[in-house]
Amino acid sequence: MKGLILCGGLGTRLSPLTKITNKHLLPVYGKPMVYYPISTLIDAGIEDIMIVTGGNNAGDFLRLLGNGSEFGLKHLNYTFQEKEGGIAEAVGLAEHFIGDSQFTVILGDNILDGSIKKAVKAFKKQKEGAKVFLKEVEDPGQYGVATIEGERIVEIAEKPENPKSNFAVIGVYMYDSKVFDIVKKLAPSGRGELEITDVNNAYIKKEQMTYEIFTGWWGDAGASVDALFKANEFIREKKIRFSDVR
Ligand code: G1P
Repeated sequence: MKGLILCGGLGTRLSPLTKITNKHLLPVYGKPMVYYPISTLIDAGIEDIMIVTGGNNAGDFLRLLGNGSEFGLKHLNYTFQEKEGGIAEAVGLAEHFIGDSQFTVILGDNILDGSIKKAVKAFKKQKEGAKVFLKEVEDPGQYGVATIEGERIVEIAEKPENPKSNFAVIGVYMYDSKVFDIVKKLAPSGRGELEITDVNNAYIKKEQMTYEIFTGWWGDAGASVDALFKANEFIREKKIRFSDVR
């Protein structure tokens, strides 16, 4: 299983903090934001990782992370997203790196307190298709929102005005390599981006989408200044409670 960490975009929702740096390099308590998704992948046994960067200060990722030795890695792969083309476009840029492997995508601003190890194991057995993670939230309208019927997701709506459930789709996705054919057929959304929600709906249509409920704390630290602040607070409190947390 390979891993992809997405760190592109201009981070306009966090402007002016993002005027002179990349959103995913902003601090979340004692570490740059991107450290958290890297740790989530490594904890799940995923060590063959590519960082897709873009927007402001893309070169700083290399300065910060190098070959990932701080995380016990021998090597890190990088690629560059030239425009703000969306999450699905960023996934498409990794085709040469992924080849025909299964892979896990994590957004560089998603902070998870809890492991995805079991889900990785389950997805390896699934062999084809995709898997997403859901989390019940109070404000689903700012995320992808899943409608569930029994054991199946029947639809995901991107930032709907009238959410049909409280289940947000968090920024961790697992795919087979067929995802690249899906991405190539996508049309840009109203905001001019290739949407990951459209990719996920294509898998739902093929009846190849599974899901897990993520039971730990989850924060989309890049969603707003409040969300960034909350992520900082959460990590700080966690460190105070458990002094051995990395
Ligand atoms: C993206 C996705 C959205 C998902 C969210 C999770 O939104 O488009 O479906 O729920 O990540 O963090 P963004 O926050 O990039 O606009």
